[in-house]
Amino acid sequence: MRLTLSLLLFCHVCHETVDASTVCSRPPAVDGSEVLGGQRVFEPGELATLKCSEGYTPISGSRKIICTITGEWTERSLQCSPKRCPTPDPPANGNVVVSSIVFQSTINYTCNEGYELHGNSSSECLHTATWSSPAPQCKSVTCGLPVIPKYAKIIYDKVVTSNSTEFGLGITYKCLPPLALFGNERGYCTPNRTWTDPPECREVSCQVPAAVENGFMTSAVRREYLFMDRVRYGCYKGYVLDGPMEIVCEKSGHWSNEPICKEEAK
Ligand SMILES: *[C@@H]1O[C@H](CO)[C@@H](O)[C@H](O)[C@H]1NC(C)=O
Ligand SMILES: *[C@@H]1O[C@H](CO)[C@@H](O)[C@H](O)[C@H]1NC(C)=O
Ligand SMILES: *[C@@H]1O[C@H](CO)[C@@H](O)[C@H](O)[C@H]1NC(C)=O
Ligand SMILES: *[C@@H]1O[C@H](CO)[C@@H](O)[C@H](O)[C@H]1NC(C)=O
Repeated sequence: MRLTLSLLLFCHVCHETVDASTVCSRPPAVDGSEVLGGQRVFEPGELATLKCSEGYTPISGSRKIICTITGEWTERSLQCSPKRCPTPDPPANGNVVVSSIVFQSTINYTCNEGYELHGNSSSECLHTATWSSPAPQCKSVTCGLPVIPKYAKIIYDKVVTSNSTEFGLGITYKCLPPLALFGNERGYCTPNRTWTDPPECREVSCQVPAAVENGFMTSAVRREYLFMDRVRYGCYKGYVLDGPMEIVCEKSGHWSNEPICKEEAK
């Protein structure tokens, strides 16, 4: 009785283990290949057909694998490689960051400073071997027209025909005479859509220049001299000018270096 029971138990266990080991379960998708159809369990000796997964193309090997008596599959030899998308070109005034161009890889686009990205900044290589988005465009940032400071005029580097200007455009400020310019003479449309700080035009006056020993001023003496006003000098007989013949009222409110009259060499 006891023997029979143990035999029965043994046989029961035996039967189950044999059953489980004699089927093959559906192989997983690996390295771009997968089993065709939806079958989940295969009997020993049964064939399964492989195919390349979406986004992959076959390059070599057999599509067939066989379920062996031990419940294992024969080795897979089908080689599938991911599809390749075309090499992307960088957009004008921008760049494209690429680490790979195969199926499922992502590329990123950037625009140079002063340019704005219009479109998608990234694109993915699809199973159709095409990029998910077209290359974006990099469009120049624009500034409005620069403000003309009081008593100044603006000279554009290029002719401006609309009421907006492109990034990088330069301008030159000029003060209306006799005012002097304080600040930047040049201005630019910056990437943050603003103009660089404009200069100021201010009045500058210089005091009546000091009399020169043994010489004289040839320009009529005035009570007030303004920026860029000039005064010329001469020397008395027997003396010659040492230094410039003319001095100018500078932005600082001082005169440029004054000459002296020195004795003529005999
Ligand atoms: C593109 O950008 C994403 C998100 O910022 C990043 O994860 C990915 O590595 C970038 N790809 C490349 C090729 O630089
Ligand atoms: C940008 O990419 C996303 C996801 O890839 C997509 O849903 C969207 O339509 C794309 N936009 C454009 C303008 O191509
Ligand atoms: C520029 O001019 C257009 C028409 O000429 C006008 O519609 C627009 O509002 C102007 N923009 C600015 C910033 O002045
Ligand atoms: C804009 O950019 C300029 C220089 O590029 C900078 O001096 C200024 O502070 C910026 N303005 C703002 C509002 O960010």
